[in-house]
Amino acid sequence: MIRAAELIERKRDGHELAGDELSELVLEYSHGDVPDYQMAAFLMAVYFQGLSSAETFALTDAMVRSGETIDLAGALGRRVVDKHSTGGVGDKTTLAVGPIVAACGVPFGKMSGRGLGHTGGTLDKLESIPGFRVELSTDEFVAQVRDVGLAIVGQTADLVPADKKLYGLRDVTATVDNVSLIAASIMSKKIASGADAIVLDVKVGDGAFMKTLADAQVLAETMIALGQRAGRDVVCVLTDMDQPLGRAVGNALEVRESVAVVRGEGPPDLTELVLDACAHLLALSDLDVDVAGGRALAEAVVADGTALTAYERWIRAQGGDPDEAALPKAPLVREVFAPRDGYVQRLAALPVGTAALHLGAGRRTKDEEVDHAVGIVCTKKRGDRVDAGEPLAELHARNEATADEAATTVLAAYELGDEPPRARGIVLDTLG
Ligand code: URA
Repeated sequence: MIRAAELIERKRDGHELAGDELSELVLEYSHGDVPDYQMAAFLMAVYFQGLSSAETFALTDAMVRSGETIDLAGALGRRVVDKHSTGGVGDKTTLAVGPIVAACGVPFGKMSGRGLGHTGGTLDKLESIPGFRVELSTDEFVAQVRDVGLAIVGQTADLVPADKKLYGLRDVTATVDNVSLIAASIMSKKIASGADAIVLDVKVGDGAFMKTLADAQVLAETMIALGQRAGRDVVCVLTDMDQPLGRAVGNALEVRESVAVVRGEGPPDLTELVLDACAHLLALSDLDVDVAGGRALAEAVVADGTALTAYERWIRAQGGDPDEAALPKAPLVREVFAPRDGYVQRLAALPVGTAALHLGAGRRTKDEEVDHAVGIVCTKKRGDRVDAGEPLAELHARNEATADEAATTVLAAYELGDEPPRARGIVLDTLG
């Protein structure tokens, strides 16, 4: 048995651990032989001391080895693509990217995560669709990617069980925002679930785990290096997360907004990011197109409705009801009004994410249930002109008390000024 306390102490004191020590710690934790309290202490030591690139590789490798791996390309006889986001507020990109890429004829197989801290998770969003099953067996996952062209599943007991446990623990121990832990978590899932080419959306800004472009570049380079060691092609798009992406924040609300993008009726920032991610994924696929060609294909399947058909087929294949009317609705909808005339200078993503969490859209403890119906719609975003008394946002709440709390936080997230702010695009940089 590994002496976990000794490893915690050495990491706390800034020493580098050997690969086999890290590997044993992770595997024993995954098997239940190291308790949560020791792993939590270890994660906090990593948070403060960091991991070297050799340690980050060893951690990722151990996480991959904690469960099964899938050879998707071997099973399908094709290149398979995947995308992942480092996490943000209102980030429902995957829900639109999957069906668009699948509609272009490229298999898309993805393992996603749940909400983490103030950020939402794709699995929680998908579970707001009545009947949708995120826990497919490995055989079901492979069969669905082959037959339907698209599957999005959770970390099962079979695939990267170490990440499933670590992710839940980090969420409630303030140990999420560390480059090595994020890179290992994301890349272990990507490597184990078998895609050949991966587009990573690295979020930057107030609502992201990486607050500056420089930190986001380090995270991107770390993930590209981990991907290369595993023989995968990785492209990172670094994107703005200073304000929520799109307008909706909260599970069912975000599903509705993603379907709007698939129909060609989504908000401009989200639509741009979805099409950019699709363009890179298609350029990395076996379709033999470049990024501009990929973008044209993605736009075409949205315009002719094939992407919407792919969405409905996928949701049904995983047991869900694709009818938007079946999505849960909150009993209380309340507006937040502008206190003055002006332009939205800033709409801080973190407080909006936190307000959604407190409304019940996320978890404050590991086992808390998510309320899929609640959330926030930011009707006005950075650069929008607003008159005093006009609605800035809409709160979807379970009761008056949670709506009151969210109203104060959301109002404080808006900064209004006399002049329009400098325009800023959604994609800030592309690496890889
Ligand atoms: N997404 C993940 O899958 N893991 C992290 O640690 C952060 C975002």
